This record gives sequence, C-alpha cells and structure tokens, in this order.
Amino acid sequence: MLGLKLPTDPRWVNIVEKNVEFILTDHAYCEQKATSTAISLIVSFPEYTELVQEMVALVKEEISHFKMVHDKILENGWVLGRDRKDEYVLKLITFFPKGGSRTTQLVHRLLYAALIEARSCERFRLLSEELEDKELAEFYRKLMVSEANHYTMFLGFARQYGDKNEVNEKWQNLLDFEAKIMADLGKRETIHG
Ligand SMILES: [Fe+2]
Ligand SMILES: [Fe+2]
Repeated sequence: MLGLKLPTDPRWVNIVEKNVEFILTDHAYCEQKATSTAISLIVSFPEYTELVQEMVALVKEEISHFKMVHDKILENGWVLGRDRKDEYVLKLITFFPKGGSRTTQLVHRLLYAALIEARSCERFRLLSEELEDKELAEFYRKLMVSEANHYTMFLGFARQYGDKNEVNEKWQNLLDFEAKIMADLGKRETIHG
C-alpha cells in the first residue's frame, strides 16, 4: 500500500527496544521537522491555496505529535536531548536536480515529503506490531494511521499540481533510489536509521 520497494528488517525493532530514550528523542525531531516542512511549504508556495490550507492543518497535527512524543519522554523521567542529523533524509533529498520551474520544485518537495511519511509509517507499523512494550506499541499504532494519511495527501498534491504521468515516473524512480539508501540502514535506533 505504501509502494516502498524494500521492507525494513524486523530485527531493527530489537535494536530500538534496547534504547527507547534514543529513538524517542530522534522521533520527536522527526515530528518537529514535519512541522517545519509544512510551514516552509506555505512560505515558499503561498499561491497554492489548497496546499496552504492543508499545510495549516498539518502544522497543528505534527506539532501535536511532537507533544505526544515529548510527553512520553517526560513520563519516563527523561529530558529531550539534542537533535542529530538524519542521514536518510539528507541522502534522499539529493535525488532530484536542483532548480527548474516553481511547479517542478514544488513537485519534488511534495514527493520527498510523501516518501518520508511513507517510510515513517512503515517503521511505526513495525513498532506497533513487534514492540514488547504494549503501551508503546499502541502509541505507534495511532501515529502510523496519521502518517499514512499524510503520505496519501502529499502524493495526491504532487499529482494534482504536476503532470500526472511525469509525477508517477518520478515517484517510481525516487522509490528505487530510496530502496538503495535503505539497503545500508535498519541498524540504528533512529526512526529512519
Ligand atoms: Fe507526525
Ligand atoms: Fe506526518
């Protein structure tokens, strides 16, 4: 359903379980970055009215996810740590050439966002199914549903604003590229690591 070409090795969950504090910190920043991305799309593409409206709703939802994760960190008696580089995202966003028309740039950013949501959703699903801690598993199940909706929304906007065939081809190529990045990942206790 998510179209991803390489599923995460379920053993990644065993790595995560050994360091819940670390994954929650990383996860909190994923939600913060999702919020920042939505704001940045509003600022960069204000004339896309429908997108702006949806991004306003998304900002609220993603910052509420940030709070959910932050509350979880506090519940455990921890304090939010510093952000770390997300190697996965940094590699992913090198795929499309820079520049091009505004529409092209918008489509590329929407496709990146769709893919990051899809992979996050896949990772949350795995956590919801495999975590021994059933409370934490339920926490991830709820978030998985939200991220699946975001994936659909971003991909839908890309197809709406760009040329549909071209967008579909770009999406398939991006999925292939992402699978190659993923082949070296799944070994660290981060959401995309
Ligand atoms: Fe989120
Ligand atoms: Fe999201």
